[in-house]
Amino acid sequence: MNRRNFLRASAYLSAGAVAGVRPALAADADIEITAQQAGPIISPHLYGQFIEHLGGVIYDGIWVGRESKIANIDGIRTQFVDDMKRIAVPNYRWPGGCFADGYHWRDGIGNPAKRPRTYNYWQASMPKGLYETETNEFGIHEFMHLCRLCGAEPYLATNMASGGPQEFHDWVSYCNAPPGTVSLADERAENGDKQPFGVQFWGVGNESWGCGGDMTPEEYAMLYRRFVTQFPAYDPKPFLVAVGPRGHAKDLDLGWTNGFFAAMQGGHRSRVDGLSVHYYTDFRNTPERVATFDARGWYDVIREGLRTETVIQQHWAAMGKYDPEHHTRLIVDEWGVWYRRGEEIAPTYLLSQPLTLRDALHTAVTFDIFNRHADKIAMANVAQTINCIHSLFLAQGDRFARTPVYYIFEMYRNHMQSQLAQMNIRCDELKVPSRNGDATMPGLSGSASFNGKNLTVTLTNPSLDSSVAARIRLTTGSIVEGRGSILTHSEMNAGNTFDRPNEVKLAPFPVTVRGNVTEISIPKHAVVSLQLRMA
Ligand code: AHR
Repeated sequence: MNRRNFLRASAYLSAGAVAGVRPALAADADIEITAQQAGPIISPHLYGQFIEHLGGVIYDGIWVGRESKIANIDGIRTQFVDDMKRIAVPNYRWPGGCFADGYHWRDGIGNPAKRPRTYNYWQASMPKGLYETETNEFGIHEFMHLCRLCGAEPYLATNMASGGPQEFHDWVSYCNAPPGTVSLADERAENGDKQPFGVQFWGVGNESWGCGGDMTPEEYAMLYRRFVTQFPAYDPKPFLVAVGPRGHAKDLDLGWTNGFFAAMQGGHRSRVDGLSVHYYTDFRNTPERVATFDARGWYDVIREGLRTETVIQQHWAAMGKYDPEHHTRLIVDEWGVWYRRGEEIAPTYLLSQPLTLRDALHTAVTFDIFNRHADKIAMANVAQTINCIHSLFLAQGDRFARTPVYYIFEMYRNHMQSQLAQMNIRCDELKVPSRNGDATMPGLSGSASFNGKNLTVTLTNPSLDSSVAARIRLTTGSIVEGRGSILTHSEMNAGNTFDRPNEVKLAPFPVTVRGNVTEISIPKHAVVSLQLRMA
C-alpha cells in the first residue's frame, strides 16, 4: 500500500487560488502551465522507432513477403503501415542493434531470389536446434520503401565491427549519390530506385563497447575518425551519431562519454552531431516477470524508468566539459523495459514480451522526460517497434495486437513539433513498496507543449491506490475548450493478447474548462492526454 504525503507548502496553496472561481475538487495536485515562446521545439524524432533483424521483428513482424496471404503492400504488413501512420512515425533506426555490426549491405540488394543466406548475430541466442538465418529478403530498398510508405525518415547504423570505412562510404554513395553520377548510383537505379534515398542520419557503429567491437572509448574514437573523415559529401548534410554509453550500467557508464570526448580533443576535426545513449530499464537479471507482478514490481519498474532523467542530465553535463556550446546532442536510440526471458510469444520470436499497462505508464513518464529535455535530445528510438522488448505490437502470422505502449504513442502524438511549455507540478510524493524496502516517487508526472492555440498536456498517475484531483491553471490567457483521452484498466497487469487484442485501449476523457482553469480527476494507474484550445 502506498499513501500520499500531505505535507504541502501552504504558501503555494494561496498562490494557486483563482479569484472568483471555487475549485470543484480539493486539489491533490496543482499544475501551473506557462505557454510562452521560450521552450524548445519537441522534435518529432523523440518519438522514433528501432527495428532490427532479430527474432520476429523484421520477418513476420514487418515483412510478410509479397506472396503472403496476410494483407501486405509489396511484402510489408499493411496493418503495420496503417498503425504507424496513425501515430505519425518520424523515423526508423535499422538494421540493428548488434545485427548491424555483422551486416553487409550488399547482401540485401539485387534479385531477392539470388541474395545470399547469411549468419545472423542473434543465431547464438536461438533455442537449441532452431535457426536465425538471414535471408536478406529485406534490404535497403525494402527498408526505404517502408520509410516512404509510413512517411518516416531513415536512420542507418553502419557496420564497424566486421566492415570497414570503404564499405560504409560505398553504402553512403549507394544511398545518396545523384542519379547518373557514380556507378553505385547506376546500380541503385538498376535495383529500382533512380532517385537518391537522401539518408541524413548515420549511426557510426552500435554499442562498440560490446557486440559492436568490444572497444575502449579511445579505440572507438580512433576508428570513428577513420570512418567519418572520408564520408562522401552528398546531400543531405549528414547527421553523424557516435556510439555512446551503456546508460543502464550502475555507474551510468560516464567513463565512456568522458573517454570518448577526451580522445576526440586535441585538434581532431571529425564532427560528432549526436551521441547515442542506450538506456534499458533493465530487469533481465531479476525475478521480475512481464505480466505477473505485485505492487513492488509495478513501482520498481516505473521508478527505474524515471532514472532516464538522471542519465540524460549526467551525460549532458559530461559532454559540456568538452563541448561547452553543446554542438553534440543526445540520441537515446535504444530504450525500453527489458525483462528476463521466458514469456516470448513463440520460441523464435526472441525477446518478444507481452507488455502490460505498467509498461504503458513507463512509456508515458519516459516521454515526459524526453519532452522536458527536448533541448538536449535530438532523437530517441524505442527498442523495438514490434515483437521485441518494449514493443508497440505483437504479430505472428495473421495474428496482430497493439500493446498498451502503442496507445501512449498515440496520446503523445500532438507533442511532436510543438513547443515545450513550462509546467510546474505541485503534488505530494508517493510512498511506495519496493523489492528493496519502502521508497518514494513523484505522485504525478507530466509535460505540456503548445502549437499555436493548441495546448497538449499529458499526465500520469502511477498510484495503485488513489486517484489524483488535479487543478491545471494557465498562467497567461484562458482556455476555450478541452477534450482528452485516457489509458487505464481495472487490472494493473492487463495487456492485449492475440485472443483479446482490445483489452487495454484508449477511452475519451471528458474535460470541462472555466476561464484559465481545468479540474480533472486522474484515476489510479492511468495516463491522460488533454487537448486544450487557448483563447
Ligand atoms: O535491442 C536489442 C539489443 O540490445 C540490440 O541489438 C543491442 O544494441 C542492445 O544491446
